[in-house]
Amino acid sequence: MEERETYLKKAHNNLFLLPSEAVFIDLLTDSGTGAMSHYQWAALMRGDESYAGSKSFYALNETVTSITGYEHMIPTHQGRGAEQVVLPILAKKPGMYFISNMHFDTTRAHVDLAGATPIDCVVDECFDIKGYSPFKGNMNVAKCEKYIKDLGADNIAGIIMTITNNSAGGQPVSLENLKEVYALSRKYGVPLIIDGARFAENSYFIHLREKGYQNKSVADIAKEIFKYADIFMMSAKKDGLVNIGGLIAIKDDEELFRECQGRAVPYEGFPTYGGLAGRDMEALAVGLKEGIEEDYLQHRLDQVRYLCDKLKNAGVPVQYPAGGHAVFVDCKSMCPHIPFDQFPAQSVCNAVYLEAGIRTVEVGSMLMGRDAKTGENLESPFEWMRLAIPRRTYTYAHLDMVANAVIKVHEKRDKLKGVTFEYEPKILRHFMARLKYIE
Ligand code: F0G
Repeated sequence: MEERETYLKKAHNNLFLLPSEAVFIDLLTDSGTGAMSHYQWAALMRGDESYAGSKSFYALNETVTSITGYEHMIPTHQGRGAEQVVLPILAKKPGMYFISNMHFDTTRAHVDLAGATPIDCVVDECFDIKGYSPFKGNMNVAKCEKYIKDLGADNIAGIIMTITNNSAGGQPVSLENLKEVYALSRKYGVPLIIDGARFAENSYFIHLREKGYQNKSVADIAKEIFKYADIFMMSAKKDGLVNIGGLIAIKDDEELFRECQGRAVPYEGFPTYGGLAGRDMEALAVGLKEGIEEDYLQHRLDQVRYLCDKLKNAGVPVQYPAGGHAVFVDCKSMCPHIPFDQFPAQSVCNAVYLEAGIRTVEVGSMLMGRDAKTGENLESPFEWMRLAIPRRTYTYAHLDMVANAVIKVHEKRDKLKGVTFEYEPKILRHFMARLKYIE
């Protein structure tokens, strides 16, 4: 305990600033933290490192086309690489809007950087964390249409469907909902972008929960998902089962594809490698296929559900049912004595680290940042402590230890104190912020 206290102090009370050696079980993120399979390690050896037109690029392109049905693909160094190429192209003039079921933090940052405003429109069921609902990640279609009408379709740069919906608790989006949003996007002539870091987990949820899809394979469901969109941006560090990588895929808009290729060159790299080495593209080509295997997906979702149920049964408030990649603990109801701008979830995350060396992450008002116009702290609808489970990495015994630590912290929740900034970076502040406790 004393050792961890010293580490936390040195890290300015921000778990992002800890050396990983000071962490026992690392649930900071499921991004790039999974284990590659032996097939992926073997594929690395095939990497063709030609600057232009490498075999590895064509291997990846073929896989992406076989999964999505989209012909055009550009590899990027990770998901935010795709965002920095695509979003400014879509935000054609200053003052436009992106509407999403929920923007992930880097997506939100790139929308801001492109001079546009992000609007979140998730369904109301998402806010009833105790009540079961199969697709809490869905877009509120009526609300989305109202925004389009009120703001004018010409001012909407794109509709972004984040699947699964990370900030809502890794909650899935149904095909029915996606079809409705796609219909809206056709009606108003607005492009639909899938932010599909976890498209495979989402597809498996559809297979399990959506009427009419029980007999369809995950591969078929994924293909159907991509029919109802124009652009696919992916952080491949999740369902691509690699440690680094991302991609942009475009259905049929050649002009947009060429524009993206042009912008990829200065920001990511020549369009046949983007941000990746040939060997990385080979590993990703294999990982994308392994990521949609149903026995793997069953194990994956089972692990997350196991931890979620364990916490719920002990009275810890969690987003229920479990999402695909993480368990989300509701720190707003856990620590009502800590106001949103003293970041209750950050305080709980730090307490769990001190308890057992387990690193988690705040997904709440700290991550929301400030209003670009007023400079005020934005209040997030949720104050989550996210326990993200890396893929193919931890055992059920690890998850038991995690549950015990969280339950212990829950028991002493009244004693936790809020935090404030000692140093606050201007964008994506949570990563490098220095924090102090408010006595
Ligand atoms: N979109 C979603 C839905 C994400 O979850 C992430 C990353 C990104 C885009 C950006 O991708 O990190 O490869 O640049 N999510 C990670 C997380 C970091 O911990 O949830 P990236």
